[in-house]
Amino acid sequence: MADPSGGLRSCIVGTGSFVPKTVFTNKDFEKMVDTTDQWILDRTGIRERRIADEKEASSDLGFPAAQKALEEAKIDPMEIDLILVATTTPDMLFPSTACLIQNRLGAKRAVAFDLAAACSGFIFALSVGDQYIRSGTYQTVLVIGAEVMSKITNWKDRSTCVLFGDGAGAVVLKPTLEERGILSSHLHSDGAYWDLIYVPGGGSKEPPSETLLKGGSQYIKMRGNETFKIAVKTLEEVTREALRENGLTLDQISLFIPHQANYRILKATADRLGLPMNKVFFNGDRYGNTSAASIPIALDEAVRTGKISPMDLVVLGAFGSGLTWGAILLRW
Ligand code: ACO
Repeated sequence: MADPSGGLRSCIVGTGSFVPKTVFTNKDFEKMVDTTDQWILDRTGIRERRIADEKEASSDLGFPAAQKALEEAKIDPMEIDLILVATTTPDMLFPSTACLIQNRLGAKRAVAFDLAAACSGFIFALSVGDQYIRSGTYQTVLVIGAEVMSKITNWKDRSTCVLFGDGAGAVVLKPTLEERGILSSHLHSDGAYWDLIYVPGGGSKEPPSETLLKGGSQYIKMRGNETFKIAVKTLEEVTREALRENGLTLDQISLFIPHQANYRILKATADRLGLPMNKVFFNGDRYGNTSAASIPIALDEAVRTGKISPMDLVVLGAFGSGLTWGAILLRW
């Protein structure tokens, strides 16, 4: 099929990330709920996570992450055409967190909006940014994943509170005619699984009320075991889809950067794919599951620690509430 973009691709020209100062270890949870450091480590691979302070919201993490990505890309905020923020924990119901970050950056020319696809949010937002660049509509796109999961987590529920963390990551996209950048994106949703992981309260279905707060509807509800199985299945399938559609084989991939939900999910996926774990990037041991922020935080660390070299083939893969899942294949 003819390429409608005329060979134009989006290229990541800068990455950045930011996490709150406070480190919360598994040992800290031992003092709060009936759990152990060993249980959390064995079941998730998580050792510690960062937790925002009372006043920190998603924009407070997304803003410095964006600044770092722009610095890296040597791009002035006035050059930005579009700001996309993937978040499940926006500062407010409205305005969008993207508009709040736009204001702090002084990116006066930019169009800014949020996008929600839970833990798949960054992949979905990166794909949307890519479409705008490939169509020639915009030249400079800032994509951010920012989350303060600790504020929608029930700190008395041991089955969820140990899993999540707070943080933000960002990338800057520019067009290129070179044989590199985002080669393809593959997005999927299946709303039949909406109640696998969700927050029932705080929206128009269950608006804030005393009853809601007492019942804990403002917190994450999750069927962990089922989520685990679907996560492994969808991550495997979408990774294979990305390779197949580009006529590539797994051995050509230099690095797989999945959503950092849980080491066991990543290991099970890698085993099913036949991918050695030294090609799977994992920093969830230090940050936990930061939802839409996990992939850009991981990507930034992989870039800054030299895990990715020019022309390397990299797969980003995610699954999340919705159910949503997706992969992006890029040549660095
Ligand atoms: N400490 C000690 N015991 C615990 C804890 C804990 N923190 N949490 C649960 N348990 C107990 C359970 O109560 C249960 O006890 P029981 O046998 O007496 O009933 C036992 O451990 C086993 O529970 P399971 O849920 O079967 O444990 P599992 O092996 O599935 O591990 C986990 C749980 C880690 C949550 C796993 O299911 C998982 O990782 N699921 C995926 C979760 C995920 O990735 N969610 C994010 C989705 S992305 C998004 O959109 C945000």
